[in-house]
Amino acid sequence: MRVSGKTKVVDTDILVVGGGFAGCGAVYESAYWGRNLRITLVEKANIERSGAVAHGLSAINLYIGMRWNENKPEDFVRYARGDLVGLVREDLLFDIARHVDSTVHLFEEWGLPMIYDKNTGHYQREGRWQIMIHGESYKPIVAEAARRSATEVYNRVMVTHLLKDPRIPNRVSGAVGFNVRDGSFYIFRAKAVIVAAGGASHIYRPRSVGEGAGRTWYPPWNNGSAYALPIQAGASMTQMENKLVVTRFKDGYGPVGFYFLALKAVATNVYGEEYEKTKFEELRKLVGKWADAKPLPTCFRNHVMLQEIKEGRGPILIHTERVTETPEKEEAAWEDFLDMTIGQVGMWAANNIDPKDKPSELTTSEPYVMGSHAVAAGAWVSGPADLSPKGYFWGYNRMLTVEGLFGAGDTVGGSPHKFSSGSFTEGRLAGKAAVKYVLDHPDYTPGTDESVVSRLRDTIFKPLENYNLGRNMVVAGTVAPNYIYPRHGLNRLEKIMDEYAGGVSTFYVTNEQLLARGLDLILTLKEDLSHLAAEDLHQLQRAWELNHRAWVSEAVVRHTIFRKETRWPGYYYRADYPKIDDDHWNVFTVSGYDPISGEWTMTTKPVIKLVD
Ligand code: FAD
Ligand code: ADX
Repeated sequence: MRVSGKTKVVDTDILVVGGGFAGCGAVYESAYWGRNLRITLVEKANIERSGAVAHGLSAINLYIGMRWNENKPEDFVRYARGDLVGLVREDLLFDIARHVDSTVHLFEEWGLPMIYDKNTGHYQREGRWQIMIHGESYKPIVAEAARRSATEVYNRVMVTHLLKDPRIPNRVSGAVGFNVRDGSFYIFRAKAVIVAAGGASHIYRPRSVGEGAGRTWYPPWNNGSAYALPIQAGASMTQMENKLVVTRFKDGYGPVGFYFLALKAVATNVYGEEYEKTKFEELRKLVGKWADAKPLPTCFRNHVMLQEIKEGRGPILIHTERVTETPEKEEAAWEDFLDMTIGQVGMWAANNIDPKDKPSELTTSEPYVMGSHAVAAGAWVSGPADLSPKGYFWGYNRMLTVEGLFGAGDTVGGSPHKFSSGSFTEGRLAGKAAVKYVLDHPDYTPGTDESVVSRLRDTIFKPLENYNLGRNMVVAGTVAPNYIYPRHGLNRLEKIMDEYAGGVSTFYVTNEQLLARGLDLILTLKEDLSHLAAEDLHQLQRAWELNHRAWVSEAVVRHTIFRKETRWPGYYYRADYPKIDDDHWNVFTVSGYDPISGEWTMTTKPVIKLVD
């Protein structure tokens, strides 16, 4: 395998890692406030179609509607708090809610086709927080704004590590990575870095296997760099145990929001009973007052469905055939998936299901690690100066616990339900704060340790060398005594997480002993990652994606061991602590990895209520 062998050094003011929704928002806003600054965006794919929703969307899931008095920011805080069983950073949520409408108005100005309600003249609501769009081209529209704002965009460059300044303790000074097409080694030297690199699928073994393994709800190309990069730089993480499990149309992973909220479809067990109603009292016994949150929290909706399946009343059915009675509704039902999850339309066709005639099966997904959906894993960040109580604020909005390092979107923990519009908004907030940080430190020039950079260069390309050296020892096919392929390592990681850390094969159940064993196995796997082999640059990218996934998995397991309760039944279960324990665990879990000693610490931070 030939690689260019070139090293490219990029000096910049603000480096944005990841050009999805949050990254595009960060670039747009940094360029606005930092007109004379150099703003660099680096993306491992191509921002035109990258990220969790590269394929398009049919709804914007967060719009407050303040101009029409539809909701107030504090209503949103209450909603997200209820859905996450109390554990949210209210300062971060309020901050997003007060700005998110302006983001949506920008999207419309940039050409996103909105849908208006003919009667009210407002945006057409799907549910209380969601509005409907013709969103097949949502990502290209948002990317264009970032492209016009950035000083430069590096597509096809995967960032593998952040750099620290050797002269100043705990300060970020850039990042390194490689071009996935020509193999150039990139050194970015930056005064501030914003990580917006998205959540992670394929941490857990997916339900789909073999040829369908790429068919997961959260896309296979997002691998948790949003967490792996900051963790290794020493940034604290919060709520990494809070994994997302979503109820989806079976096998195609089609989202359910439009069908439940807009079409008012009901889900039943196979005998036609509405299990959310019949199981409610049982749920209340398990979770107490938290069952009264409206709407019923996402994890609890999963929980009652899982119970129903375990008790033998599956398959669970969503009755599309009862709500697609008009041609308009039928068309909307198809368009929802055509805009957002085309694979589900293929599944319907392949399985001979016309949604106006037959119900579809629902099931729960494997767990994903994210911070922007109905889930709040991610970095522990500073909030805004005017809202954040003591302990939640250290100078710059959305700065992590590493100086000069900012985050947005899935990167940021404790602030769920941001979705596309909220993630872009959070990117804007981080961008504005990063500009202030750079301008407040006018004399700073990024320092890097040459020996560290040189070592990283060798490490990054080592899988290519491993392949070249070890390939002659190959016994047959892919059976090699001297190395492992990224796919093999991924299978091993997914199996560990699935069986020990509460994946689908155990119905999301785990306990202290299983987790401890799982952690041992992950640590052994991490040692073996130095033997990864890549026969080309594509495999080299897979190798680094696996490396990041392993770091994320370790954090997930350590957090899951630490929280001794079952806070979110339906997301995962600690069999040894099967109940919600508000007396001891109404707190955030916060982890810290020390890059010098290699030690992890776990601690808690208080949950401070700002909204009644
Ligand atoms: P992303 O948008 O995923 O962006 C991350 C970016 O980082 C990607 O471009 C990725 O390629 C890049 N990257 C990753 N690692 C690296 C690296 N190491 N180096 C360089 N670049 C890197 N929201 C809604 O509002 N409405 C919906 O209907 C909706 N539906 C959804 C449906 C699906 C199937 C999914 C998965 C999500 C949906 N969402 C929806 C949520 C929305 O997509 C996310 O909240 C949003 O994309 C999060 O933004 P982000 O920037 O944090 O991550
Ligand atoms: S999507 O991100 O892939 O589009 P999904 O379809 O589950 O996810 O959710 C879209 C929106 O609808 C989210 O805001 C989600 O919280 C909400 N939602 C989905 N199902 C329900 C339900 N049964 N009750 C209330 N809200 C729901």
